[in-house]
Amino acid sequence: MSHNATVEPFWHRALVVGASRGIGLGLVRGMLARGWQVTATVRNTTRLPQALSALQKQYGAALEMIELDLAQSSRPGELAAAFGTGTLNLLVISAGIMGPDHQRAEQASPEEVGELFDLNAMAPLRLARALLPAMAPEGVIGFLSSRMGSVSLNESGDRELYRASKAALNSLSRGFAINEAIPAGVGVLNLHPGWVQTDMGGEDAPVTVEQSVTGLVNVLEAALGQVEQRFVDFEGQTLAW
Ligand SMILES: NC(=O)c1ccc[n+]([C@@H]2O[C@H](COP(=O)([O-])OP(=O)(O)OC[C@H]3O[C@@H](n4cnc5c(N)ncnc54)[C@H](OP(=O)(O)O)[C@@H]3O)[C@@H](O)[C@H]2O)c1
Repeated sequence: MSHNATVEPFWHRALVVGASRGIGLGLVRGMLARGWQVTATVRNTTRLPQALSALQKQYGAALEMIELDLAQSSRPGELAAAFGTGTLNLLVISAGIMGPDHQRAEQASPEEVGELFDLNAMAPLRLARALLPAMAPEGVIGFLSSRMGSVSLNESGDRELYRASKAALNSLSRGFAINEAIPAGVGVLNLHPGWVQTDMGGEDAPVTVEQSVTGLVNVLEAALGQVEQRFVDFEGQTLAW
């Protein structure tokens, strides 16, 4: 892929969902630095995090901000209409939550289960499905999954609700990749970002946001044109489902 903006201004266009902080914010910063035209979603554009305002000042028209609460099921259709057909090379869905502190199936209320599974599994699928027509041929859809979503790599069983929600995302995205994205010429990545120093990962995490997103952007860029699905970490290592 060329990054020569004078020859092909902004042909490489990305949408990053959940960009207010953490890995999503880091991805926006990392992609802008590599010459991508980025649309970033936040839940409230009237209270933009300082870091995004600073990026807007620095990058001007290369960064566009739109409002999206991923939990609102009506929005994917509107977004798809706004992007039209074949305009996006990358869609990365980073927004996600850990779920209730107890993380126990027998303690979970239907509301807690609903919120966790809807946001971590159903909503990313709804959005990806709605935006598939907006993807350019040989583009890539990246879902922020987690190694904790792997059934075969689960050796501790901790955080069972969060694990199950990411396993559900992996399962749903597998069907989407096989039946819809790959036949449409679009690749799918289920991404493990590492254990990262964010609000979710906490300060004991060994990987910085910058290390994680540098790796993730490498992996995403390398996947352009590869019309397949992979479950892969930020260093490019394939993970078992
Ligand atoms: N950090 C890790 O170690 C780690 C490891 C494996 C996987 N992951 C996954 O990587 C992704 C990003 O994690 P992170 O560490 O960056 O998390 P984070 O620091 O907690 O940030 C979560 C992001 O999701 C957004 N979000 C939450 N609910 C939303 C909703 N209803 N609609 C739209 N956006 C919403 C938040 O927006 P607001 O600011 O508006 O709340 C925020 O931008 C998640 O899917 C997570 O499961 C993280």
